[in-house]
Amino acid sequence: MLGLKEIYQAKKNLEDIVLETPLLKNESLSREKRGRLYFKCENLQKTGSFKIRGAYNCAVQLTQEDLKKGLVTGSSGNHGIAVSYAASLLQTKAVIVVPQDASAAKVKACQKYGAEVVFHGLTTTERLAKAEEFALQGMTLIHPYDHPHVVAGQGTIGLEIFRSLPQVDYVFVPVGGGGLLSGVATALKELGSSAKIVGVEPVLSSRLRLALAKGEPWELERWQPSIADGIRSKKIGQIAYHQAKKYVDQVISVEEEEIREATRALIEATKLWAEPSAAITLAAYWKYDQEIADKNCVCLLSGGNIEIGTMAEIIGG
Ligand SMILES: Cc1ncc(COP(=O)(O)O)c(C=O)c1O
Repeated sequence: MLGLKEIYQAKKNLEDIVLETPLLKNESLSREKRGRLYFKCENLQKTGSFKIRGAYNCAVQLTQEDLKKGLVTGSSGNHGIAVSYAASLLQTKAVIVVPQDASAAKVKACQKYGAEVVFHGLTTTERLAKAEEFALQGMTLIHPYDHPHVVAGQGTIGLEIFRSLPQVDYVFVPVGGGGLLSGVATALKELGSSAKIVGVEPVLSSRLRLALAKGEPWELERWQPSIADGIRSKKIGQIAYHQAKKYVDQVISVEEEEIREATRALIEATKLWAEPSAAITLAAYWKYDQEIADKNCVCLLSGGNIEIGTMAEIIGG
């Protein structure tokens, strides 16, 4: 069950744990006649991404017994960092299963909070299967996206956007497993916002588009790792699928070079350090033209965890 009630409960659970991140108006990147552009800066969130909202909201609702068993998850990084931080706040242990090519910055961040890091596979499906093995041995799995408490936590971003900008017209949200998109869409639509919610994914892995075409979450057959390493899952979650069908207005797919260009532009023009999985929303926004003239558009910058070397390579073109 997921609705405003659960999202307000999450907001309460997250008080004093997460930051209310700024919604920054930007003029330099809106390009002519492209409406008013805002960035919701979850790249400035504790742990460097929005993921702490869902991870903590889920962990804090566990029984003492389940919490004591320790937390486990499979994550390309950001959710892993968030679970590691949540575990440290709630004084329990954490095991994080990361891809074999995990970003060193993300691995180091998990370890900083005392988590054990296990390298396994490349896709979310492989990592989650490994995490489930730990769960079978007694640890408590915190799913990266397909759990109502996780989605409700991510939905608190929608509450903040609506409070700061009630007249919001477009919200661009990156899609991995779809927890972020479904939470934000549910919050905004159930608050009565008429904003169009746009899910954004790489062309290399357009799993939401595929699910909507197939009529259910569907695993991508052809899959290549995107530079947007936070949004690599092969399939969206059940909750995401149902909420997206109900509340998401459009889905946009973005090419790798467009993601790189947006990542570069964010640093150059705004000094905002956003990882490609976040900058992808700016690339999607650039695809719109007259339909967003005079509209209030929010690009959700979902995280900023990227290695300096990788960023240097992107900036270098
Ligand atoms: C920076 C960033 N943005 C967006 C997402 C997508 O979130 P979700 O899996 O809830 O769709 C992720 C997922 O890890 C992420 O790390």
